[in-house]
Amino acid sequence: ENNKTENQSPVLVEFDNGIAFVTLNRPEKRNAMNPALNARMLEVLDELEGDERCGVLVLRGAGQSWSAGMDLKEYFRDNDGKPRDATLKARRQSGNWWSRLMYFEKPTIAMVNGWCFGGAFTPLVSCDLAIAAEEANFGLSEINWGILPGGNVTRAVAEVMRHRDALYYIMTGELFGGRKAAEMGLVNEAVPLAELETRVRKICASLLEKNPVTLKAAKDTYKRVRNLPWDLADDYIYAKLEQMLFLDKTKGRDEGLKQFLDDKTYQPGLGAYNR
Ligand code: ACO
Repeated sequence: ENNKTENQSPVLVEFDNGIAFVTLNRPEKRNAMNPALNARMLEVLDELEGDERCGVLVLRGAGQSWSAGMDLKEYFRDNDGKPRDATLKARRQSGNWWSRLMYFEKPTIAMVNGWCFGGAFTPLVSCDLAIAAEEANFGLSEINWGILPGGNVTRAVAEVMRHRDALYYIMTGELFGGRKAAEMGLVNEAVPLAELETRVRKICASLLEKNPVTLKAAKDTYKRVRNLPWDLADDYIYAKLEQMLFLDKTKGRDEGLKQFLDDKTYQPGLGAYNR
């Protein structure tokens, strides 16, 4: 059992037609995030950043769980009594990959196939989009074992959930299902588990049609300007827009205008230009 755990990679990466499926792979521990998984995820994000096989990153969990949150043994118990730098290192390892995910070069989708607890809310919210199985169950379970939601979970929850909902679940630790998660805005939508991958692939197909330079600029701009005052936001948006035009060697904007205004081969209101 122990050997099996040590030998298997805590993260799997599979490519399929522009999609990189990244699987949290500790099913026997319900994909709880231990230091090995966190360290590997940071490497995986580095590897995928420049990999052309990854046009969209889909984060999913092996087996019946998305992630059972932090590994309560390896991340918490085993660090108790160690020098403070050990705790800080473990914290950095997890925080680093979550914040990398937040501004990842490619679009990211959390495909929540099962349990999602505590620390798992940070990578969940860090993904650009989240689609859950109706059968998935979520819980801010920290309160149930005597801590508050750390690892920026409290901040992540405040980002996407309403005030009353956030406090209700932070304080009660009650479970809620995929549909409730969608209703509260924690995920975009919930579909039956049997249809989850199909739905996610459909969204990926739509994103893969778009100009990747524009997508990266558009998502980062949204995430950053929402906390800026209007005048700074306006300036930042134009700075990003001009950066985007500079970085886009395909000159997508000009092509998009040409195909609509001159060639009349598509209508921007109804779909993307042909790249
Ligand atoms: N940390 C460490 N080990 C875990 C975790 C975790 N977060 N979650 C599950 N495991 C382990 C169990 O200890 C068990 O190990 P063992 O086989 O060596 O005994 C194994 O995974 C399977 O767990 P079960 O509880 O038997 O699985 P079951 O499918 O019945 O239940 C469930 C799944 C509901 C997810 C349950 O395991 C659970 O409550 N886990 C803890 C969830 C949680 O509260 N996480 C912490 C959030 S707070 C934070 O992240 C800071």
